[in-house]
Amino acid sequence: MRALHQTELTGPSRMCLVTDAPVPTAGPGEVLVRVTAAGVNFADVMQTRGTYAGGPRAPYVAGFEAAGEVVALGARVSGLRRGDHVIGTGYGAFAEYMVLPAAGAAPVPAGWTGEQALGLVLNWGTALAALRIGHIAAGETVLVQAAAGGVGQAAVRLATHHGATVIGSASPDKHDVVRALGATHALDRNADVGAEVLRLTANRGADLVLESAGGDAFRAALAATRRITGRMVVYGMAGGEAAISNRELDFTHPIHLIGLHMGTLAQEAPDLFTELMAELATLIAAGVYPPGRPTVHELADGPEVLAALEAGATVGKLALRP
Ligand SMILES: NC(=O)c1ccc[n+]([C@@H]2O[C@H](COP(=O)([O-])OP(=O)(O)OC[C@H]3O[C@@H](n4cnc5c(N)ncnc54)[C@H](OP(=O)(O)O)[C@@H]3O)[C@@H](O)[C@H]2O)c1
Repeated sequence: MRALHQTELTGPSRMCLVTDAPVPTAGPGEVLVRVTAAGVNFADVMQTRGTYAGGPRAPYVAGFEAAGEVVALGARVSGLRRGDHVIGTGYGAFAEYMVLPAAGAAPVPAGWTGEQALGLVLNWGTALAALRIGHIAAGETVLVQAAAGGVGQAAVRLATHHGATVIGSASPDKHDVVRALGATHALDRNADVGAEVLRLTANRGADLVLESAGGDAFRAALAATRRITGRMVVYGMAGGEAAISNRELDFTHPIHLIGLHMGTLAQEAPDLFTELMAELATLIAAGVYPPGRPTVHELADGPEVLAALEAGATVGKLALRP
């Protein structure tokens, strides 16, 4: 089958198209799907550099997220049948076929294509989880970092839906997108985001901060979070690692700091994961969560797409067509 092979963990340039990759076999609890659309995520970029914790070692077939049709069932799979259209995450999504763990495979919403369903778990699920564990409440101010990205766009829409005032940070050329999604303010991610948020909130800070930019932006997000009652949910590190000391948490930034990883959430809190998926289904039925409109590229263009994502040069959800 056709697949994108990562040969070394030195970045997207070491990813190449092969035409003779073996079709994988579904093991116990797994299904084999014919991939109709693969989602591109920042995690794919991290994986190409070996910085995604627990990811595969090179060489490997790249890609974590795909939508597709179930074509074979492994042992001990219940609730799924051949011909079902599902969306899920596993290893080897940038290929014509991939194996998905059956437990994490969600149905593609009725009437939606696979492309439209991309991001259901990794973008909308992550955004909703961040808002839930960050205890969003109507009337609060929410800062969303990387607001024009895959997760960011979903977060802006959902926070607005929850009745929050949303401040989105992003590169300036993406600000129209951020405002169109419902954000009241769009901030230049290269400006002093902490100071800007304090200015916009009469020095109180944001009640909830969704932080995935990492690096210096992590420090800015700390400064932007309201002291004592403010919550900051950390689920990414696009700009690199950052640290906070116990001294800072005590004296400078006495805030609620919350970590989030969707894979860990699904594993450690399966009831919460199920609740989140059910809530997304309700939001889809209500039209709050519309069918996705990813920018779709050919499989062979994967390395360039990942390089653009790494450079912060993309807007919204990206997909590859196998
Ligand atoms: N923990 C989880 O379970 C989980 C699940 C899904 C995603 N994530 C994380 O959530 C974040 C968003 O993921 P995504 O797939 O939707 O990606 P994305 O937001 O579409 O792309 C990343 C964006 O981050 C911004 N960014 C800020 N500083 C950056 C830097 N130094 N280098 C590169 N980009 C920078 C860029 O937007 P601007 O230029 O507009 O700022 C870039 O477009 C990622 O950090 C990802 O790892 C975590």
